[in-house]
Amino acid sequence: MAKMIDTRVLRIDFNLPLEEQLQPAAEIIKNGGLVAFPTETVYGLGADGTNAEAAGKIYAAKGRPSDNPLIIHIANPVDAEKYTVTCDTYYRIAAAFMPGPITVVLPARDTVPRATRGGLDTVAVRCPENPVASTLIRLSGVPIAAPSANRSGSPSPTTANHVIDDMMGRVDMIVDGGDCDFGLESTIVSIGNDNSVTLLRPGKITVADIESLGISVSIADAVKDKLKDGEVAISPGMKYRHYAPNCEVILLDGDANAAYEYIGSYVANNNIEKYAVISYSEYVEMYGTLHGDVHIYDFGAKADEIAQAHSLFDILRHADKQDYAVVFAPLPRAEGIGLALYNRMIRAAAHKIIRL
Ligand code: TXA
Ligand code: MG
Repeated sequence: MAKMIDTRVLRIDFNLPLEEQLQPAAEIIKNGGLVAFPTETVYGLGADGTNAEAAGKIYAAKGRPSDNPLIIHIANPVDAEKYTVTCDTYYRIAAAFMPGPITVVLPARDTVPRATRGGLDTVAVRCPENPVASTLIRLSGVPIAAPSANRSGSPSPTTANHVIDDMMGRVDMIVDGGDCDFGLESTIVSIGNDNSVTLLRPGKITVADIESLGISVSIADAVKDKLKDGEVAISPGMKYRHYAPNCEVILLDGDANAAYEYIGSYVANNNIEKYAVISYSEYVEMYGTLHGDVHIYDFGAKADEIAQAHSLFDILRHADKQDYAVVFAPLPRAEGIGLALYNRMIRAAAHKIIRL
């Protein structure tokens, strides 16, 4: 376990200039320390991306295996040139979406230590839009290597309190810059030697957004974890622990009335006392009439995937602290921003999907 350190929480006052406030955070980064900071996706756990020893501290604080590579955060899209071998496709994506919630995997240069890139020959670069993040990178004068600021195994943090829960005593500073705007991690694409673009992780920037640039995108199998149609899969736990709360999560693929019926008989047949339902706003009232000690989470309107993305990790973290026997949730559509939700939720449910 990582040695306990004295963590300073720095609350940003958005009425004052960011530069002065973030100076102490930048000093910590320059000196090889750890700073958790907000981005427009989720909070990151940052350190000097050119310092192998600092990368080691990140892995220790997260409890993360050191073969899992870190994203290098840059202040300006052209800075990718210093750490990777860029290409025309990179610049087309950068011109359209950076700064913003997208990460691009490119061939690495030696300026990024192997420890930071998990031993790979590639490096993932991202230029965040959040002003606290971009100011911190600029002031530090180095690229900031940062995974999401959760302990390994919990959902990514989207509020400063989530970070405080996970990282107090493990990092030098937590910069509280309020809630993250989007709430799910960045879209990740890799660009191959042949210029082919592959989606590795879905996020706010969708496949359609990238294809609108005239770039065709193939979707890595891992994104949907390819299930055969009609298959009700319960995958072996380990690989999918990443987003999984302590209790069982069951995704229901079907309309709300069918889901209501299913939940009612499931809890009756299994003698379940305490459980929760993640519900689109339209059905909160209906699910509230279910029997037993049921908690209903309002997930946002059915058509409002932005609201759902914003609340998902907060709901999962809350659910994790209760003693629900089971949490039911709707299966999102596997398209557009829905694909980002789908990708996180099938993992939270360890693939337990009921086709109604
Ligand atoms: O929105 C985000 O991307 C957040 C914020 C803090 O920027 N960061 C984030 O980092 O989600 P992390 O480490 O939790 O997730 C990054 C993912 C990991 O699954 C990692 O394996 C993958 O990106 N990754 C990093 N470098 C890679 C590379 N060179 N090739 C393939 N995958 C890579
Ligand atoms: Mg993560």
